[in-house]
Amino acid sequence: MAGDTISFARGAPSLDIVDVEGLRESATLAFESDPGGSTAYGTAGGYVPLREWIAEQHDVGPEQVLVTNGSMQADAFLFDELVSDGDTVIVERPTYDRTLLGLRDRGADIRMIGLEPDGIDVGELSHALDAGMRPKLAHVIPTFQNPAGYTLSREKRERLLHLAGDAGFVIFEDDPYVHLRFSGEALPTMLSLDRDGRVVYASSFSKTVCPGIRVGYLVGAPDLVARIQKRAMNTYISPNMVAQSIVYQFCASGRIRQSIETVKGALAERVERLSAALERDLPDAKFTPPQGGYFMWVELPEDSDVDALFTAAAERGVAFVKGSDFLLEGGRNTLRLAYSGVTPDQIDEGVARLAEAYNAQRKASSIK
Ligand SMILES: Cc1ncc(COP(=O)(O)O)c(C=O)c1O
Repeated sequence: MAGDTISFARGAPSLDIVDVEGLRESATLAFESDPGGSTAYGTAGGYVPLREWIAEQHDVGPEQVLVTNGSMQADAFLFDELVSDGDTVIVERPTYDRTLLGLRDRGADIRMIGLEPDGIDVGELSHALDAGMRPKLAHVIPTFQNPAGYTLSREKRERLLHLAGDAGFVIFEDDPYVHLRFSGEALPTMLSLDRDGRVVYASSFSKTVCPGIRVGYLVGAPDLVARIQKRAMNTYISPNMVAQSIVYQFCASGRIRQSIETVKGALAERVERLSAALERDLPDAKFTPPQGGYFMWVELPEDSDVDALFTAAAERGVAFVKGSDFLLEGGRNTLRLAYSGVTPDQIDEGVARLAEAYNAQRKASSIK
């Protein structure tokens, strides 16, 4: 293996864009200003001031918010509440691999609907509904999608809400990247456009503060949130109050705004470097540069073998996630590159190694 591995695999920030000092100060503030609330069990709904702060951001009541140990925990509670064995659930093609795992574990009948650069193919979905598909839930990652980096357009957000209203399914709007837009116009969440209580929304502080803090949340109709809160109580009594009180101080003091600016600035620079490096070193790669978020989706020529590329790349000290991990079938010519955890110089070196692996593997397969 060549030197240290350069990883385009992990959807996590590099340490240089985590505000460690701000977190340390927030921890001090949390213990000084609310030692009781920070150290007690607290409530299953989450640390009350943070729950209220999140509710205010979304213009909903605190009873509509559940703060969890990362949004993965919110996803798991929601799936346990809504998805039973055999239920049809729509997801995007491709989608976040952990969503696929979570749904598979619960016996869902997973139906993938194509994803376009402006989001889920609502035409394909509409045809499927006309043909008799009766989903219970549609899981959608509308902003800077994981793994594709694409964003659902305003028109499609509205169309999806209409389809959900007509066909009677719930939209799960999984939106941890929403604040990480570095170009283009911000779009309203489906939660804010929803008039019929069809949307359950989840987001996280993993991508804007740091993943190790494990704080995420769910927003939904009061009765659904109350049912999930009961599940939360039976699972862990309450989530991690120390983490949530630190996040609250980080948010209430305004540090989060600076942290988001830092992350966005770094991501913008990294996307530019990654796009330029791919164009220079790997001209066969097709991609749409994202306007925010952590990920870029890359398509190689149809006959490419990304399994073999994965191994050849690992031998040269570069890692990525195969596109097939985000699909139920196919995708052998696709890969996801996360640029959140790599510095610009590592990007240049990583793409050079990836291109070398690609060229070596193409050559080997043409000799066979
Ligand atoms: C779409 C999506 N949902 C949920 C998560 C999980 O986030 P958390 O760290 O808050 O559990 C991720 C993390 O990569 C994600 O990409």
